[in-house]
Amino acid sequence: MVFFRPFGTKHLVLSIFGASAVLWTRSKLDNGDNIQHEQNAISMATAKCMALKEKQGVPGLSVGVTVHGHLVWKTGFGLADIENMIPCTENTVMRIASISKCFTAIIAAKLVEDGKLKWDDDIRKYYSELSTFQFENKPVTVTFSQLLSHTSGIRHYTKKGEERPISEFDSKEYYLMTNYKNVDDALQIFIKDELLYEPGTTFEYTTHGYTLLSAVIEKIANKTYANIMKSLFEQLNLRSTYLDYPEEVIPNRSHYYYRRDRELKGVPYVDNSLKWAGGGLLSNVIDLLLFANTILQCLQSDRYLREKKLSIQSLPTHQQQKFLKSSSVNKLWTPVIRAETDETPELLRPRYYGFGWFISPEKHSSINELSMPYHIYHSGGAVGATSILLIAPCTNINCTDSKCGICVTILANLQSTSEMYNTALYIAMKNFMDSTKSLESSGNFRLTGFKI
Ligand SMILES: *[C@@H]1O[C@H](CO)[C@@H](O)[C@H](O)[C@H]1NC(C)=O
Ligand SMILES: *[C@@H]1O[C@H](CO)[C@@H](O)[C@H](O)[C@H]1NC(C)=O
Ligand SMILES: *[C@@H]1O[C@H](CO)[C@@H](O)[C@H](O)[C@H]1NC(C)=O
Repeated sequence: MVFFRPFGTKHLVLSIFGASAVLWTRSKLDNGDNIQHEQNAISMATAKCMALKEKQGVPGLSVGVTVHGHLVWKTGFGLADIENMIPCTENTVMRIASISKCFTAIIAAKLVEDGKLKWDDDIRKYYSELSTFQFENKPVTVTFSQLLSHTSGIRHYTKKGEERPISEFDSKEYYLMTNYKNVDDALQIFIKDELLYEPGTTFEYTTHGYTLLSAVIEKIANKTYANIMKSLFEQLNLRSTYLDYPEEVIPNRSHYYYRRDRELKGVPYVDNSLKWAGGGLLSNVIDLLLFANTILQCLQSDRYLREKKLSIQSLPTHQQQKFLKSSSVNKLWTPVIRAETDETPELLRPRYYGFGWFISPEKHSSINELSMPYHIYHSGGAVGATSILLIAPCTNINCTDSKCGICVTILANLQSTSEMYNTALYIAMKNFMDSTKSLESSGNFRLTGFKI
């Protein structure tokens, strides 16, 4: 088995500065000790993924890992399509569900940088046709920050006063087959419903909140959300990321499954045009890792400048423009509110929500007696698919490597797959972080810090 094949001969190009940086080269880790370490790490990760697949009865699983910008592992397990025996690989394209929110947050950050909106603006400033929001018969305002952090009071799939179904997948809004021609039409599903609480006071996860956000963004950009997304994919060089159009022919698109009384079934037809911004994208693990590394490098890009002993002004003008400023990524990854419900598993506590991402501080887990590093993540659950994308940035303030950090992503073509987060965290932590020990001792990489 070949463990460390570099990413073919062609390099995926990441351009955080106008000039392009190459993401997938290997250099730092290419010595005997580290290779041995990585082999151990990969065999442990393989065992963990196979156990997940077995226990949860997942037909197909894709997984990928980067360590300090190097693609160290990409693979698939099982089948993308059971009927035709198509293997699941790292190229398999699946519904990424709520990881779509991470993309939407990036678009919002870009608009803030361009001076088109402010985080705390009342959204009606840009979309005056929206009726005034009311809470207990008093007019209230809803801001971009609130929509991004799920603190707006906009409902999720259950109306105020209605009983929440035991499984979210029993919500009928998961199974809409309507094709909404534009985001405004999709607003009609929820926009007239009562706010659940006064904006800014509580955390209540809501995909519709992101749909509303995208409707306002359409007004600001004067472009359809679909077109905004497509140009983002192009800019970030994401060639296997799409809007989930049911009728489009998409290379390597997975089939999707669920289990009814343990029996494997194909999923019913759904149309995700009601939630492009909060759950409507398709991607594969390679693109998600490229996306994660771009954001990570934007955050840490000042290190690149430090390493090269450059100031941003000393770069040619076309290179001064990186995709996002460090301060913008910092804003997205700054905790806004504690993000837990009664159902949040103990392992995930405490956790916070920023703008489009969950944030988990460094902590010691009494469950598995492990010290967990600071990490940023998003999980997703769609009809027939489950996903996780996790980033553990380097927190050594003296580190000069802008790529420093670990990214892990897993996609499954089975609805309601449990233990995706645990598995991703395990892979990031127990395996690949161990493999960085030698770097750690050289003072180059230290995953500590960030306490709330
Ligand atoms: C862009 O602006 C024009 C003129 O106001 C309007 O007719 C059009 O619907 C807008 N397009 C989008 C996508 O908002
Ligand atoms: C589809 O997957 C196959 C098998 O992994 C791969 O060789 C091919 O390049 C993929 N096609 C696209 C367009 O990604
Ligand atoms: C960072 O570097 C400064 C100056 O050399 C040093 O005093 C400090 O202890 C270093 N911090 C860490 C976390 O390594």
